[in-house]
Amino acid sequence: MTKRIAIFASGSGSNFQAITDACRKGLLDATPALLVCDRPGAYVVERATAADIPYFAFAPKSYQTKVEFEDHILQELARYEVDFIVLAGYMRLIGPTLLDAYKGKIVNIHPSLLPAFPGLDAVGQALEYGVKLTGVTIHFVDEGMDTGPIIAQHTIEIGPDDTRESLEKKIHEIEHTFYPKTLQQLFTVKGEAAIR
Ligand code: GRF
Repeated sequence: MTKRIAIFASGSGSNFQAITDACRKGLLDATPALLVCDRPGAYVVERATAADIPYFAFAPKSYQTKVEFEDHILQELARYEVDFIVLAGYMRLIGPTLLDAYKGKIVNIHPSLLPAFPGLDAVGQALEYGVKLTGVTIHFVDEGMDTGPIIAQHTIEIGPDDTRESLEKKIHEIEHTFYPKTLQQLFTVKGEAAIR
C-alpha cells in the first residue's frame, strides 16, 4: 500500500523537493502528506506551498518542552494519517515521544559515511580531516545523533581541488536521486526484508 510520508526539514529543502518530485513522477510510490518544519521562515515552507503540500511549521521556543512540541507534531501526523517519517535536513534530535510512536519508521540522510563525522557540519569535518572519500548515509533513526542502523551508503571522492562549495554540490546531487531510490527500495516488501 502506498505509504503516506511526512518529511521533516529545517532549511532550504532541496531533498524535500527531490522526494516530492520523485513521488509525482511515479519513481517513488509514496504520498507526501505533510511537511514538518521547526523554522517557520525556512525556504522549504515555500516549496511545500508551491507544491500544494500541507505543512506544520512551528517555533520550538514557543513550547515549554520537547515533549510538548513533539506531542503537537504527533497530532498533526495523525491528522494527515502519516505512516512513515523521512528526515531531510531536520536539525534536531528526535525525542522518545516520536520514536515510540513511529518505531522503526523514521529514516534520516546524513552527508558523510557514518559512523565517520556524525552531527553538525559533516562536510566541514570531512574537509578538515582531509579524507579522500566521503559520502552519504541513509539510516534508521534511534535516540542517538546519527547512530541508527545503516540502510544504504553512497561514496563520493574528494579531489585536491574540491572546496566546501563543490563538495556540497556533489553531495546534494547524489542525495537527490539516492534518497528517493532508497526509500522506494525500503517501501517494497522485498526491500524492507533485505535491509532488516
Ligand atoms: C542534506 O545535505 C542532508 O544530508 C543533511 O542536511 C542537508 C539538507 O539539505 N541532513 P536540503 O535542506 O535538503 O537542501
